[in-house]
Amino acid sequence: MQSSRVNLVIFDLDGVLTETSKFHFESWKALAKKFDVDLDDKFEVHLKGVSRQASLERILKEYGLDSKFSEEEKKLLLVEKNRHYQQLISHMTKDDLFNGVIDCFTFLKSQGVRIALGSASKNAPRLLKTHEISDYFDYVVDPRGLKSKPSPDIFLDAMKHFNLNPSECIGVEDAYAGVSAINQAGMTSIGIGNKEELHHSDYCFSSIDSIPITFLKTLIKGDSS
Ligand code: BG6
Ligand code: MG
Repeated sequence: MQSSRVNLVIFDLDGVLTETSKFHFESWKALAKKFDVDLDDKFEVHLKGVSRQASLERILKEYGLDSKFSEEEKKLLLVEKNRHYQQLISHMTKDDLFNGVIDCFTFLKSQGVRIALGSASKNAPRLLKTHEISDYFDYVVDPRGLKSKPSPDIFLDAMKHFNLNPSECIGVEDAYAGVSAINQAGMTSIGIGNKEELHHSDYCFSSIDSIPITFLKTLIKGDSS
């Protein structure tokens, strides 16, 4: 658990800053239907935070279809999933940003804390623009070439960019795999969602909006100050 002053907060995007998680799952469901699979809603938890390619592998494995598609066919499935997802997010505007996000960012900036995006999504930069929040980010992790969450790579990449230690960083995540990634990075984890699901997070809140500013202030100051 962190005890130094916090200098960096790394936010996940999907399901933390805006409700794009449901669109990811909707497009996986539509894709799965094409190969006669009715994707169980309970399976969503296993896809959250996981890269596009790893998500497809998980779905195929779960339904015993690992060997049904060639590598070329899998590439086409990934393109199709993304095309559908992009259609779904094309209707989003800045009004889809979750409540409390701007207040939280503004507070962190006022405390001199850097803000980074640690999303597995290659669509993240586009969504930052749509939601008009690009300028708040001091760094956006490029997930290409990094290991998928629950590997800590995405969070460590942001930390290294600022030459910090894990104890100076907080990660904010709604996915089980994402919280695992933060914990593995040795950072303080804030889960967004259900405490039963995110039982391994250091702290858990139902939304960004429900994180008290006083709590953030104390966490940022650290035990040692
Ligand atoms: C994560 C989502 O943020 O990004 C996953 O939680 C998604 O559901 C992953 O698969 C990759 O997103 P994209 O936009 O690159 O397909
Ligand atoms: Mg997420």
